[in-house]
Amino acid sequence: MDPSKVDAVVLVGGKGTRLRPLTVSAAKPMLPTAGLPFLTHLLSRIAEAGIEHVILGTSFKAATFENEFGDGSKLGLQIEYVVEDHPMGTGGGIANVIPKLRNDIVMVFNGDVLSGMDLRQMLASHHESQADLTLHLVRVSDPRAFGCVPTDADGRVEAFLEKTEDPPSDQINAGTYIFNRDVLDQIPRGREVSVEREVFPALLADGVKVCGYVDSSYWRDMGTPEDFVRGSADLVRGLAPSPALGGRRGESLVHDGASVSPGAVLVGGTVVGRGAEIGPGVRLDGAVIFDGAHIEAGSVVERSIIGAGARIGPRALLRDAIIGDGANIGARCELLRGARVWPGVVIPDCGVRYSSDI
Ligand code: GTP
Repeated sequence: MDPSKVDAVVLVGGKGTRLRPLTVSAAKPMLPTAGLPFLTHLLSRIAEAGIEHVILGTSFKAATFENEFGDGSKLGLQIEYVVEDHPMGTGGGIANVIPKLRNDIVMVFNGDVLSGMDLRQMLASHHESQADLTLHLVRVSDPRAFGCVPTDADGRVEAFLEKTEDPPSDQINAGTYIFNRDVLDQIPRGREVSVEREVFPALLADGVKVCGYVDSSYWRDMGTPEDFVRGSADLVRGLAPSPALGGRRGESLVHDGASVSPGAVLVGGTVVGRGAEIGPGVRLDGAVIFDGAHIEAGSVVERSIIGAGARIGPRALLRDAIIGDGANIGARCELLRGARVWPGVVIPDCGVRYSSDI
């Protein structure tokens, strides 16, 4: 199947509530990930596969996407934008872009999935099975946390099952779909619709041929802070593929204009954004440091995200924390286990200072 005859639709209109407070100031697909807006990694995979026409279904912070990607020519793409006044859900977002489609095959992507799945192979599988709809499925070690999607011996989807303690399959919906154009007309219009919960089960019940494409490549939904931190680190270390990063992979990635003092240790896939300053004796392990943040002497930051322009005072300890843009964390503060600090919040110096005089 010729990828240039396929439209890509990327859903990027969600509010990203699970990633607050980072998504107070930016849409989730625009958050810097390994130093680039997350969506850049997905768009570069789409371009690499040979797909040319992309429609972004936007709503929340819609203008920021067009400001960053424009007409798409820098990535070798033709990008168009469709804005929902109110988020219409994943199904509504797909139905909304129909007037912009140019081709009979439509590949739809959740805009927050980091994956190494081979898009051309999925297109070939859709063609060979003569499906009306193909879903990318991944196998997970603990499927109890997800709805599961069992398939028969021919790869045909048998059911869409809600979360259960004893799922009959370890296959889950991985958030990339190929639709034959005419199937899209069956999505209800003019109201909020979930493609996962409503459209797919209804299509199956109507006898539409729905197939699964199962593969074992890298896959991560970046919707939670834990997954966002892991995904960013995996990109930096080269465990997750991204044509946008080329060969720049290693234990850490320090962007132009950042300064890292001698004696600072950067490991675990840490990324340091443009203009950030890392003080002496700082240890960053799996940390995501946005542009212009300052981490002062002797602080330790593990598996945490530090928002743009935030300041972490000396000898602080942050583990599994999110610090909003422009927040100011005092010396020796400890923020652990999922602590979240809202943008601009000031936390004064804290803790006990031990010195040789005591
Ligand atoms: P949470 O609020 O944290 O659940 O995040 P989310 O709003 O992004 O929802 P979810 O992770 O389920 O969304 C999966 C993908 O669909 C993301 O890329 C979203 O941007 C996108 N999406 C979710 N809701 C809408 C919508 O109403 N319209 C459009 N166009 N896209 C949506």
